[in-house]
Amino acid sequence: MSQRTAKISFSDSDQVIELPVLEGSMGNPVIDIRALGGQGYFTFDPGFVATASCASSITFIDGERGLLYYRGYPIEQLAQHSDFMEVAYLLLRGELPTAQQKAEFVNTVRYHTMLHDQMAVFYRGFRRDAHPMAVMVSMVGAMSAFYADSANPFDPKQRDIAAYRLLAKVPTIAAWSYKYNQGMPFMYPQNRYDYAENFLYMMFATPCEEYVPNPILAKALDRILILHADHEQNASTSTVRVAGSSGANPFACIAAGIASLWGPLHGGANEAVLKMLEEIGDVSRIGQAIERAKDKSSGFRLMGFGHRVYKNMDPRAAIMRKTCHEVLDELGLHDDPLFRIALKLEEIALQDDYFIQRKLYPNVDFYSGIVLRALGIPTTMFTAIFALARTAGWVAQWHEMVSAAEHKIARPRQLYTGPQRRDYVPIDRR
Ligand code: CMC
Repeated sequence: MSQRTAKISFSDSDQVIELPVLEGSMGNPVIDIRALGGQGYFTFDPGFVATASCASSITFIDGERGLLYYRGYPIEQLAQHSDFMEVAYLLLRGELPTAQQKAEFVNTVRYHTMLHDQMAVFYRGFRRDAHPMAVMVSMVGAMSAFYADSANPFDPKQRDIAAYRLLAKVPTIAAWSYKYNQGMPFMYPQNRYDYAENFLYMMFATPCEEYVPNPILAKALDRILILHADHEQNASTSTVRVAGSSGANPFACIAAGIASLWGPLHGGANEAVLKMLEEIGDVSRIGQAIERAKDKSSGFRLMGFGHRVYKNMDPRAAIMRKTCHEVLDELGLHDDPLFRIALKLEEIALQDDYFIQRKLYPNVDFYSGIVLRALGIPTTMFTAIFALARTAGWVAQWHEMVSAAEHKIARPRQLYTGPQRRDYVPIDRR
């Protein structure tokens, strides 16, 4: 079969440029525009609304139909039957592990959870009230200084070790950021616990008394980790890829991803949801908040609503909504005033024409913020938890990029709108 092509014609000349159309295994076909540069044209797509920045076999999203697959497996099946470590293996290696492969993977991650002891000293340079994400960006970046023996992206063995180290140590870094905030002693990881339990232990245990993680809450956290583990070429993943494309070391690349994730339009949304609910303060003020969100001049958006890709339903939100109700039931929290505001806000927004017309539905972060709060996680740690989940996806995407045969530095071009050439004017003549 001959290759499908697309033709670009111009209104002011006879020039026609023919471009190949590439078909992936699923999803929209892609017009391969690489030859355009040689013809004297660039394409313009701020925000990458219609740009496929890479070829990837990790995660598939269909925004119209509300589908999310990791390596072909629907997120609903993974959330119900799998666990975060298995999902991390799947993202990284491409296949579900056998029992033996899984045991080896879990064990290797487990035995990398402790931080270089000098890193504990490093924390002490921060103010106690530093935001955990500020500490995480720095500490994950600092891993390049402590684990230089696994920092070479072009050595497959070092890449593997870096992946284990990141998966294993980011939860420790995150939990210690919180402990440092609280002025409490750091709790060392415990090898008897699974990934989510260990994180809860490092967050909430103290040396003074026995702490046993609640398995139901650990399961809910594990589900949050699965749902946030990867999401195709979102802002932070693209950041990791762009940083990594220059050959930067993996720890620096993941630190860059954490910085990008922090923004309120991305991973910072779950924290912003809780702040918004606190600001609304009472069910009687929801109407006012909805009106403000519709008023463009207010600069206020309903946090936890809308998504760049999902225009009918965020499949992660549907799962998280269910988990949210389970956790609230388990903890008897349905009457908590903030949760009542959240549930009412969801109900009202879903019936409002503004939100219906723009296809603005609650996204995963609307519900994950509520679940995390119910688990007793402080609001400032919400995005840090997103970061530790997304580390699995970032590492897999970085790995895929640096190990690809065709590896190019990311170097976008621009539509220049500044002044044309002009001569320098000495300061006394300006
Ligand atoms: N509240 C009120 N209006 C909104 C909202 C919102 N949350 N989101 C979008 N709109 C309006 C927007 O003003 C625009 O209206 P109009 O067409 O009249 O100008 C229209 O909907 C389309 O918005 P957009 O900004 O062009 O959409 P986008 O695809 O660029 O933005 C988004 C997607 C997620 C950044 C945006 O919906 C938003 O800011 N949501 C709130 C933040 C949030 O919850 N982010 C978490 C995303 S899920 C987690 C993750 O993947 O990181």
